[in-house]
Amino acid sequence: MADILLRGGRVIDPARNFDANADVLLRDGKVAGVEREIAAPKDARVIDVKDKWVVPGLIDMHTHLREPGQEYKENIETGTAAAAAGGFTAVCAMPNTVPPNDNRAVTELIVRRAREVGAVRVYPIGCITQGQKGENLAEMGELQEAGCVAVSDDGKSVMNSEVMRRALEYARGFGLLVIQHAEDHNLSANGPAHEGPVSTRIGLRSQPAAAESAMVARDLELVALTGARYHVAHVSCAETVRLVREAKRRGLPVTCEVTPHHLTLTDEACAGYDTSTRVNPPLRSDKDVAAVREALADGTIDAVATDHAPHSSVEKDVEFEQAACGLIGLETALALCLELVHDKIMSPLALFARMSTAPARILGLVGGTLAPDAVADVTVVDAQATWICDPSRFRSRSRNSPFGGRTMRGKVMLTIVAGNIVFAEEKLVG
Ligand code: DOR
Ligand code: ZN
Repeated sequence: MADILLRGGRVIDPARNFDANADVLLRDGKVAGVEREIAAPKDARVIDVKDKWVVPGLIDMHTHLREPGQEYKENIETGTAAAAAGGFTAVCAMPNTVPPNDNRAVTELIVRRAREVGAVRVYPIGCITQGQKGENLAEMGELQEAGCVAVSDDGKSVMNSEVMRRALEYARGFGLLVIQHAEDHNLSANGPAHEGPVSTRIGLRSQPAAAESAMVARDLELVALTGARYHVAHVSCAETVRLVREAKRRGLPVTCEVTPHHLTLTDEACAGYDTSTRVNPPLRSDKDVAAVREALADGTIDAVATDHAPHSSVEKDVEFEQAACGLIGLETALALCLELVHDKIMSPLALFARMSTAPARILGLVGGTLAPDAVADVTVVDAQATWICDPSRFRSRSRNSPFGGRTMRGKVMLTIVAGNIVFAEEKLVG
């Protein structure tokens, strides 16, 4: 494998609080050096990245790859190709596949397929409960041994408090992170929209923000009881932010994530009944969006995660209330999050901390830094380049994006995994 020298870029490494122009040398799958000027080694591939940002490869803690079982929506090959195009060098595969990833055989299949056809690193997440039924715990030790880096029943909450208590205790024994899709299903009753003036006006059944925050409040008591590490998936409302902020002050081992869509869209986006805006948790009020943006900037929210949730036209070309929940996010995440940088809500260092360094730290993964000797997982970004979002051109097998037609500012130029180029914008590398 030839050395790669990324010459003249702005290197942003949150893990070392480093933000300066520098050359980056990649050798043997590792970062070999980051210096003001590095002479090109013989036979090195030199890539001019002047005016571009060179950042640790993005890591998505929350991706639905749909393999096994729903390959008509996405598979490991198309999902990881979409990830690479979006600047991600690693994704965590959520376990609500068919069958669910609640045993070694499914985990091993995902690991093997990722090795065979995956463009980026794939880390499986196992189920908390068998079949995600919320009744009996999955064999977490077996899942971890097979390669799972966390457990979650994502798509559903663990509703039974006793089961959740035991799950936290059991996971703690393995040092596994428990990721909760926080939703009181009795309160939410599968409501397709956020409960508020907009849902009333547009006439959609709705669920209150409390369906999320009530579950988080319960869980935090169980975290205090058990001392287990707990992570809230796709935080969407101000009240959850308040609870997590308080819990962190109490010293509880809690982290959380927010999606690009909950950072950039309000419930008004549902007013046209575009079913790609039907997601769970639903798009919230402008006050909630302001709260999650502020919390991401101040670090109360640790990470950005896409919740990339591909669905086909069979599930989406139906009435809003009948449509499956979810939207695809891998190929729009970076540009959407850069809006917060362009709007001066957060610095580039803070943004890439949330999109790379923090997910690596929370899950104990390689990457998240460009420090010498780190894995050569690198993303090169043109933060100023504008483009019009056209989902028909995405690598993902699905098309359920509400961002078609939006002017995006910030483009992925190059994605490198272990020193191999897995995506390149043609203009940069001819
Ligand atoms: O919108 C969502 N889609 N939320 C979830 O929790 C699950 C996901 C899916 O699997 O489609
Ligand atoms: Zn979820």
